[in-house]
Amino acid sequence: MQKPANPRFSSGPCAKRPGFALEALEAALLGRSHRAADPKKRLAEVIERSKAILGMPADYRLGIVPASDTGAVEMALWSLLGPRGVDVLAWESFSAEWAHDIEAELKLSDVRLLKAPYGQLPDLSAVDPARDCVFVWNGTTSGVRLPNADWIRDDREGLTICDATSAAFAMDLPWPKLDVVTWSWQKVLGGEAAHGMLALSPRAVARLESNKPAWPLPKIFRLTKGGKLIEGIFKGDTINTPSMLCVEDALDGLRWAESVGGLRGLIARAEGNLATIAGWVAESEWARFLAEEPATRSCTSVCLRIVAPWFTALDASGQAKAAARLSALLEAEGVALDAASYRDAPPGLRIWCGATVEQADVAALLPWLDQAFARVAAEFAG
Ligand SMILES: Cc1ncc(COP(=O)(O)O)c(C=O)c1O
Repeated sequence: MQKPANPRFSSGPCAKRPGFALEALEAALLGRSHRAADPKKRLAEVIERSKAILGMPADYRLGIVPASDTGAVEMALWSLLGPRGVDVLAWESFSAEWAHDIEAELKLSDVRLLKAPYGQLPDLSAVDPARDCVFVWNGTTSGVRLPNADWIRDDREGLTICDATSAAFAMDLPWPKLDVVTWSWQKVLGGEAAHGMLALSPRAVARLESNKPAWPLPKIFRLTKGGKLIEGIFKGDTINTPSMLCVEDALDGLRWAESVGGLRGLIARAEGNLATIAGWVAESEWARFLAEEPATRSCTSVCLRIVAPWFTALDASGQAKAAARLSALLEAEGVALDAASYRDAPPGLRIWCGATVEQADVAALLPWLDQAFARVAAEFAG
């Protein structure tokens, strides 16, 4: 049976783009100050190429920020929230973390938590346009994505703060509906970790300039000075020191994205991978999507649950052991690395299908899933 040429199906850091080799980074401006003209140009190039590929409106700002997607989200929450009530949508682990920070760390008094279990979305019609709203676009740990933004009003008064780290470059992001969008380099384009991207709409900038948070902000989160946006951050003048090696790598990923047809090409690649898995799931006796509604199935973090009767008859710890054995076998065969479900999610598999993953590799993996599952069944079902 043929093995995937590249067995890297991790949901982050994700597979490098096809054909990647370290030589691609030879032009990196190592050992240079990131404030010097040429390095700063490269940082600005990451911003400009990202904006162009993503079709971001010209009046949106995009900056490179510290601490990956988490850094970008936390900056937004700590800088923007407070003046209005907040609706937080939580349907998997990362969105639940943002809910925790808003309720328990920022201690905002007027918070509504709209929750759903793994596999589902909360009631989007309950979102109040007068309030700020915090959500992920794609729930990386449940494989449930938002099917659209129809539930976000164009005439909303609140801000929409969207963690799009496993959606950007793989799904259409309806910019006019989104006031803050964040992602990191290590996801769909297979970049290196530790750098985040923060996009702000004009309304988000207006909030930043009018809102003085009731809590102290560390330098690493500060986006304004004297009540005015620090515009430099959105032109490559980063808050602190970035890695110029990672910058070069991010540019490599962006150039590759352009070479496969930009956003449309990237989306087609991820959707093609999802369709390949969907065809197999439709025939499978033991695997189903964790996402219940087809329209909410992620084309990046594809999460599968196990429905074989012997498996569902196990208690929680037995299920966790059987699922762990399955991913260990896939790893031992060298056909899928890091394909276990997220630690807080229902036990099963999570197969990254973002644009850097080749459809031929997804197709090659599928028979191995059946073979490994048969072995686990023999061991556990007796
Ligand atoms: C939806 C979501 N938010 C936040 C994070 C954390 O991202 P990072 O490690 O880039 O900070 C992840 C990582 O997988 C994620 O999927």
